[in-house]
Amino acid sequence: MIFLGPPGAGKGTQAVKLASKYGIAHISTGDMLRYHVKNGTDLGEKAKAYMDSGRLVPDDLIIEMVKERLEEEDAKRGFILDGFPRTVNQAEALEVLLKSKDITLDAVVLFDVDEETLVRRLSGRRICPNCNAIYNVHNSDYPEDGRCKRCGNGLIQRDDDRPEVVRRRLKVYEEETAPLLDYYRNKGSLISVDASSESDAVLYAIVSLYGGKD
Ligand code: AP5
Ligand code: ZN
Repeated sequence: MIFLGPPGAGKGTQAVKLASKYGIAHISTGDMLRYHVKNGTDLGEKAKAYMDSGRLVPDDLIIEMVKERLEEEDAKRGFILDGFPRTVNQAEALEVLLKSKDITLDAVVLFDVDEETLVRRLSGRRICPNCNAIYNVHNSDYPEDGRCKRCGNGLIQRDDDRPEVVRRRLKVYEEETAPLLDYYRNKGSLISVDASSESDAVLYAIVSLYGGKD
C-alpha cells in the first residue's frame, strides 16, 4: 500500500496501526531520513538542509534508500509506504522496482484533509525521537507528563513543524506531490478517505475501502 497526502494528514499515525494490524512493514521515508540526520550519516548530512527548509530531498537519494529498505526481511510480508513516492519521478522508479520484484500494489490511499485541520495538527504534533511514536497536544490521549507512553522518552516538536516551514511544506506538496494523484487515478488504484475525522474512524474507513481484509 501507498499512503499519499499532505503533511499532517495522519499518514504516519494510521500506518503504525495498519502495519501492526496486518503484520507488515511500515516504511516511512521521513522517519528514515530523521534517523540518518540524528546519527550524522552521509545521507543525513545531505538531507538535513532540505528537510529543515521544508523542501524535498533529491529523488536519487530517496529512491536508493527505499530500494535498500525493500530488500529487508520484514518487507517481504508486505509494506506500507508512508511519504513515498512524493514526485512523479519517484513513482516511476517505484513502478520499475516493484515490477522487477513481481510485486503489485493493493491500494494507493489518499488522505483527504482541509488545510485548517492540517495546520492545527502540525502545530500540536509532538513525537518521540526514540521510538517515532506520534502524539498531539490537542488530542485527549496526550500524556500529561510530556513523556512517550511506549518508551518513557521526552517528547519533542519536529524542527520542520515551525509555522514558516509548514507553509513551505504545504506548498511543496501542492506543486510536487499533488500531480501524483492523477498519476495513480489514471491507473485506477487511487482510493480517497476522509482523514479529517477522529483517528479510529479514519482507520475504519481505510480498512473498509481496502476491502475489509481482516
Ligand atoms: P515526512 O516525515 O514524510 O512528513 P510529511 O509527509 O510532511 O508528513 P507528516 O509526517 O508531516 O504527516 P503525517 O501525514 O504522517 O501526519 P501524522 O500521522 O504525523 O517528511 C519530512 C521531510 O522529509 C519532507 O519535508 C522532506 O524534506 C523529506 N522527505 C520525506 N520523504 C521524502 C520523499 N519521498 N522525497 C523527498 N523528500 C522526502 O499526524 C499529524 C498530527 O496529527 C500528529 O500530531 C497526530 O497525532 C495528529 N493526528 C493524526 N491523525 C489524527 C486524527 N484523525 N485526528 C486528530 N489528530 C490526528
Ligand atoms: Zn517512545
